[in-house]
Amino acid sequence: MRYSILHHGAQKTRPNEHPTSITDAHMELVWPSAPYLASYVQALEQGWSPDNLRPEAAEDELARIARDPNRFLAEQVDREAKGPPVTLPDGSSARRLPGYRKWMWDGEFCGVIGFRWQPGTVELPPHVLGHIGFAVVPWKRQNGYATRALASILPDAREQGLPYVELTTDASNVASQRVITANGGTVVERFHKPAAYGGAESLRFRIYF
Ligand SMILES: CC(C)(COP(=O)(O)OP(=O)(O)OC[C@H]1O[C@@H](n2cnc3c(N)ncnc32)[C@H](O)[C@@H]1OP(=O)(O)O)[C@@H](O)C(=O)NCCC(=O)NCCS
Repeated sequence: MRYSILHHGAQKTRPNEHPTSITDAHMELVWPSAPYLASYVQALEQGWSPDNLRPEAAEDELARIARDPNRFLAEQVDREAKGPPVTLPDGSSARRLPGYRKWMWDGEFCGVIGFRWQPGTVELPPHVLGHIGFAVVPWKRQNGYATRALASILPDAREQGLPYVELTTDASNVASQRVITANGGTVVERFHKPAAYGGAESLRFRIYF
């Protein structure tokens, strides 16, 4: 049985669970870089995709890493949006926003969290489903990693000058919703994703600073 730890170290228990049985795994956010790449590749090879709506993103990334690992790493941090257009789940492509990804690391690669923004405004174009997105590899879930990763990246978003960040989840994605509400997010809208994303019913959250 696993227990989550809050990012500030406080422990959280559920009714009837004994507070001593907590996970003490240390997880930090790291910049994508060479020492972590082999573990990242291993996660992709095990079938994990950094894009939960596009399983084929794993194969795309393995090919890019094989072609030019340094370029792949450099492209994870793209504050000027110099990279190629973004591929949407229906295969169409859209304008890339400035942004970057950080990797969750506990001695092995655990997951990814990305932050993107539109310079000078808090608004996002319709094809960008939120300022922040995250994914944890299936074998490291329910350790509190996504909750802590989101807490760790929020100060960066605040420094960018944004009054709030938006995040969206499928209405059925309870785990993601708990990650967001644990970090102060509240629902501002129920909507259907654009057709390019399959149109599923979704929730839009905001975390105000
Ligand atoms: C959503 C996701 C990132 C959560 O990662 P995680 O590291 O397991 O999350 P945490 O351990 O921080 O758990 C957060 C909460 O969700 C709960 N949770 C985790 N998995 C759950 C599940 N399958 N069903 C219900 N609740 C779940 C945890 O118990 C925890 O709740 P608590 O704080 O009340 O104890 C992970 O499940 C994932 O990568 N899913 C696929 C990608 C995805 O959906 N990304 C988000 C897109 S918006």
